[in-house]
Amino acid sequence: MQLVVKLFDKLADDAVEAPATYRVHLCFGPNCRPRGSRSLLPVLEAAVARAGLCDRVDITAVSCRARCDYGPSMNVYPGPVFYNHLTPEAIEEIVREHLAGGRPVVRWFFRPEPSKPAGRKRGSSARW
Ligand code: FES
Repeated sequence: MQLVVKLFDKLADDAVEAPATYRVHLCFGPNCRPRGSRSLLPVLEAAVARAGLCDRVDITAVSCRARCDYGPSMNVYPGPVFYNHLTPEAIEEIVREHLAGGRPVVRWFFRPEPSKPAGRKRGSSARW
């Protein structure tokens, strides 16, 4: 019986100490690419590697995130947390604070303008 209790205690400890795993979707859609999303991918990959998070963070280049006017766009899961108007500085901060520290970075959150609803630009497609 004590062995079972110890096993459950160990499982509980492991669960608490298990690092969070994130999935990061960086938009390579037709409106984010001209705004620099492709050049952000190596910045993101390097920042994740420097932070020692390669085994905890999956990075995927994805199609349109439906926030074209606010690109470059990126989603972080679990959440999702929507990030927009990304720059290399933003990527570095998001990796350091959110992915490594577990603290989403409010200043890069998606904030739709009241007069400009989120969505795809007219005539754009999901091809990339
Ligand atoms: S192309 Fe990136 S959000 Fe639409």
